[in-house]
Amino acid sequence: MSLRISPSILAGDFAHLADAVANVEAGGADFIHVDVMDGHFVPNITIGVPVVAALKRVAKVPLDVHLMISEPDRYLDAFVEAGASILTVHAEVLPHLHRTLTRIRELGARAGVAINPSTPLAAIGEVTSEMDHLLVMSVNPGFSWQSFIPHSLDKIVKARELLTTKRSHATIGVDGGVDQKNAAALVRAGASILVAGGAIFGAADPAEATRALRRSAEMAA
Ligand code: DX5
Ligand code: ZN
Repeated sequence: MSLRISPSILAGDFAHLADAVANVEAGGADFIHVDVMDGHFVPNITIGVPVVAALKRVAKVPLDVHLMISEPDRYLDAFVEAGASILTVHAEVLPHLHRTLTRIRELGARAGVAINPSTPLAAIGEVTSEMDHLLVMSVNPGFSWQSFIPHSLDKIVKARELLTTKRSHATIGVDGGVDQKNAAALVRAGASILVAGGAIFGAADPAEATRALRRSAEMAA
């Protein structure tokens, strides 16, 4: 699975989002990761549908939209229409995850499932055929700049095993505290999409930080 870098715009300057997108695209970003938070499922409120639509107008790469909201089913159509190429929902809030993932695919987006650090992999065990992407959260979601939770590495190894056993082609992403130091280990564990906020937008040159993250991740090979 080829490596993809998905810079999280949450750590960018919200007054200059188009510049943030252009910067990381210049550094070779494969996606723009957009963190949608509702102040209910997570303790922060960030971006909604109109901002996703605005990002879609300026982004050259696909949008990787991460919904950290309590009732994602109500907004799937709107986020796909706004331009989400990958639409990721959290397993913790969805009693009918199979139905939700099926609906995301029907809408024409790649269906992603995110699991929090405390959520066991078993939460996705019965939907691997309906899923295009698994996002392993390596922080408790809500904010950029948090520290990577070390046991996430082991979870990625187990996720890779599970998806291989199930003959699933779903990609594995990792989100939270990803940086140049842990990138190679994450790829070695089985992740192919690295989401990074602070490590990219906290740098003086986000384009160069995007390239540097890719170089570090490629050390895994
Ligand atoms: C966390 C978000 C992340 C966050 C990542 O709730 O889902 O996408 O922006 O930022 P860093 O890489 O700084 O942890
Ligand atoms: Zn995210």
